[in-house]
Amino acid sequence: MHELIDHPCVQHKLAIIRDVETGHKRFRELAKEITKFVCYEALKNIKVKEVKVQTPIAEATCKKIDTDLVVVPVLRAGIGMLEGILELVPTARVGFVGMYRDEVTKEPVSYYERLPTQVKGGTCILIDPMLATGGSTAAAIKALKGAGAGQIVVVCIVTCPEGLELVEQEHPDVTIYAAAIDKCLDERKYIVPGLGDAGDRLFGTTH
Ligand code: PRP
Ligand code: URA
Repeated sequence: MHELIDHPCVQHKLAIIRDVETGHKRFRELAKEITKFVCYEALKNIKVKEVKVQTPIAEATCKKIDTDLVVVPVLRAGIGMLEGILELVPTARVGFVGMYRDEVTKEPVSYYERLPTQVKGGTCILIDPMLATGGSTAAAIKALKGAGAGQIVVVCIVTCPEGLELVEQEHPDVTIYAAAIDKCLDERKYIVPGLGDAGDRLFGTTH
C-alpha cells in the first residue's frame, strides 16, 4: 500500500528541491521540511492513549502518542530526513541501516546496522529520500523484520512505479508514504525526472 502526499505546500517545496540550481544548503533545508509534512501524514494512524490533563479551567480528556517509535534512516541520504521527523516526535529512538547501491549491479550492499532493542515488536519508521528500484528499501525492511520489528512504515520523498511494485510485492504489510511518484527509471536506475543523487545533493559531494 502506498500514499502520495499531494498537498500544495509539499508540491511547492518539491519543485524547488528538484531544481538542478538548488544548492546543498537549501536542498538540506527542503529535505527536512518535506519530510516533516510527509511524516505528519504517515503518523496519522499511530497508537494514542487517553490522558487527563488539568487546564487552568477544568480537566480535559486528551490524547498522547502511546508507542515507542523507532526512526531508521538508511545511510547516507536518510540522514537528511532525520531532523524533520524528530521535530514531530522528539522522543523517538533512532536506529541506523547502512546501505549503498552497487554502481554496476544496482543491488543494495549492506555495510552497517545499529538498531535499538525497542525495534523488537515496536513501530519503525524507515526514512530514505529515494525509493528507486526499491532494492535498498526492501533490504532495509528485511533487516528491520529480522530484528523483530512490529509495524513498519516507509517514508520517502520521491519514488516511481517500479520501486513501489518491488517493495509492495516483497513486503505487502508495509505502507509507503511519498511526496512524489515519478514516471520511471533511466538506464542508470535513477528516477526520472527525480531529483538526481539525493546523497550527493544533500552532502555537497560528487562521485
Ligand atoms: C540512494 C538512496 C537509496 C537508494 C535508492 O542511496 O538514498 O538508499 O539509492 O535506490 P534503490 O531504490 O534503487 O535501491 P545510495 O546508494 O546512492 O547511497 P547514499 O545514500 O550513501 O548516497
Ligand atoms: N538514488 C538516488 O539518490 N537517486 C535516484 O534517482 C536513484 C537512486
